Amino acid sequence: MAQKDKIKWDKKYTEISFLLEDKLPSEKLIKIEKNVKGKKALDIASGAGRNSIYLAKKGFEVEALDISKVALDVLNAKGFENITCKLVDLDEYKVPKNSYDLIIMTNFLDRNLIPKLSNALKKDGILFIETYMEDKINEKPPSNSNFLLKKEELKTFFDESFEILDYDEFLNDDSELFKMKKQCIAVRKMV
Ligand SMILES: C[S@@+](CC[C@H](N)C(=O)[O-])C[C@H]1O[C@@H](n2cnc3c(N)ncnc32)[C@H](O)[C@@H]1O
Repeated sequence: MAQKDKIKWDKKYTEISFLLEDKLPSEKLIKIEKNVKGKKALDIASGAGRNSIYLAKKGFEVEALDISKVALDVLNAKGFENITCKLVDLDEYKVPKNSYDLIIMTNFLDRNLIPKLSNALKKDGILFIETYMEDKINEKPPSNSNFLLKKEELKTFFDESFEILDYDEFLNDDSELFKMKKQCIAVRKMV
C-alpha cells in the first residue's frame, strides 16, 4: 500500500471534518447516469462516497474503492447494502476486466488508470471522469501540478471505439472550498 498516501489522506479526513460531511453528487454524473444500461458500478477513489451514495439510491450495486480507512468507515457506517467498500491502493489494485456498466473517477487523477478503467467496462458501459484542470482562476495550487489536467486532455485517452457522450470544461460550484476549473468526460465503450 502507498503508505504515504494512506497517512496523508487519513490525516486530511481526520483534521478537516468538512471533507466527511454529506456532499451533493456531481451534477454532470446525475445527467449521465440516465444513459447507463446496467446496474454494476465502480467508484474510483470514492472518499466518503457522495457519488456512490447517489448511485446506490438509484439502484446500482456499487463498489467504492479508496485508500483512506477514515473515509470508508464513514461511508460504511451509512449502511447501504448495495455499496461494497474496499480499502485498496489504486497504484497496485488490479481492476477486473469487462465487469462494469458504469465507472466513475471524480476529483482524483491517475492517468495510468484510465486505460485500465476502459478495459474494465463491459461493452456499452460508460466511463465518467471529472477532475480539476489548469487555469489561472484556480484558487488552490495543487500539491503536485501533475494532478491538474491540461486543456482538452481527457479527450486524448479515447479512440474511435468510444463514443463521447459529454465533454465540458467548467467552474466548480459553491459546494467546494475553493474556486477551481474542472474538466469532465463521459464515454461509452462501443466494442
Ligand atoms: C479529493 S478525494 C475525492 C473523493 C470523491 N471521489 C469525490 O469526488 O468527492 C480523493 C480521494 O482519493 C483517495 N486516494 C488518494 N490516493 C489513492 C490511492 N493511491 N489509492 C486509492 N485511493 C486514493 C483519497 O483517499 C481520497 O479519498
